Amino acid sequence: MSAPILNPVISATGLFTPDQSIDNKELVASFNAYVALYNQDHADQIASGTMEALAPSSVEFIEKASGIHSRFVVDKDGILDPAHMAPRLAERSNEELSVLAEIGVIAAQDALARAGRDAADVDAVLCAASNMQRPYPAMAIEIQHALGIEGFAFDMNVACSSATFGIQTAADYIRASHAKSVLVVNPEICSGHLNWRDRDSHFIFGDVATAILVEEKSIAPAGHWDILGTKLKTVFSNNIRNNFGFLNRAHGAIDQDGPKTDKLFVQEGRKVFKEVVPMVSALIVEEMEKLGLQGRDMRRLWLHQANSNMNRLIAQRVLGHDATPEESPTVLETYANTSSAGSIIAFHLHQDGINSGDTGLICSFGAGYSVGSVFIRKS
Ligand code: COA
Repeated sequence: MSAPILNPVISATGLFTPDQSIDNKELVASFNAYVALYNQDHADQIASGTMEALAPSSVEFIEKASGIHSRFVVDKDGILDPAHMAPRLAERSNEELSVLAEIGVIAAQDALARAGRDAADVDAVLCAASNMQRPYPAMAIEIQHALGIEGFAFDMNVACSSATFGIQTAADYIRASHAKSVLVVNPEICSGHLNWRDRDSHFIFGDVATAILVEEKSIAPAGHWDILGTKLKTVFSNNIRNNFGFLNRAHGAIDQDGPKTDKLFVQEGRKVFKEVVPMVSALIVEEMEKLGLQGRDMRRLWLHQANSNMNRLIAQRVLGHDATPEESPTVLETYANTSSAGSIIAFHLHQDGINSGDTGLICSFGAGYSVGSVFIRKS
């Protein structure tokens, strides 16, 4: 007798959104207050030409360059304090749930509730995110423990592409019969790795957590999404980088004194834009050909949420025409870039008008470089 074919599907997704947010006006006011303080503190060096004055930021630039209007954060006061410019999060004892696990658990519980699934029925947890709070024990194991899940759990980091890489990994476990129900959790406290003193990027990120429940079709709830195919790709690049790590801790890992540091997020935004758009579009189009799909077959694209102009170009190349907001929804206006969680937030919030049999794509891309695509069809 041949073995049954095991088909992975997306049963449900979950979302945690912090209750604090910062709009561009507040952000720019705080950044410009920091710039004024910095330039005042270094007035002599600036006057003598040994230092350059910092330039102010502007709401108009941010909105035009990125499409971002606001971002949710876990600690607004610390970020907006011109003398601090970072979230203030009290360290927790080992007996308390860590911050990343806490928001991951809330998103996971939301996904489980939507699927009508008991945590005890889940076999594995993958914490797939850009920044882990610590090296070990794995965040995923802490989330597994908090939810009361037996089985196994581990962390994986593919930066902004972590969620889609997690979905393929979960799908492969299901196909290989290693699990029937896998939770992929993406807690992203991006405010902790964003350099709020860097004019080029201080507006980019926000905080959030998402979760995706990937299950074997025979146990999945009605209304699930069949996974038609997944494709991952990585190509090394230094154009998005964060050098923070345990080996440079002794050298004062985060330089609090200057506006630039490579121990927080840094990027060559223009190069990223130019190099990633063709890479992502080509991968999607190639995969569509393999799956026998054409632009007109794609009901909705839930793309990574980094930059509205990038998404506009990618969607245009995939669909063969300018995408309507319904075809390629964005959450950048309110959430900003939330790293791996972005495409999942878009998917979670924008399923209106979708009918059984409709085909869509969840696609993320970012540092590495990395691209992950997940083609899905509403059951
Ligand atoms: N306020 C006002 N002006 C600013 C500014 C700010 N906050 N930041 C930069 N500028 C200025 C620059 O000084 C420059 O001025 P100049 O032309 O006089 O030299 C001008 O705006 C253009 O800067 P640039 O950095 O080239 O902007 P851009 O149009 O490339 O937009 C990004 C910047 C980052 C929004 C854009 O490159 C991008 O989104 N790239 C992809 C990033 C991405 O997706 N990364 C993935 C992260 S996971």
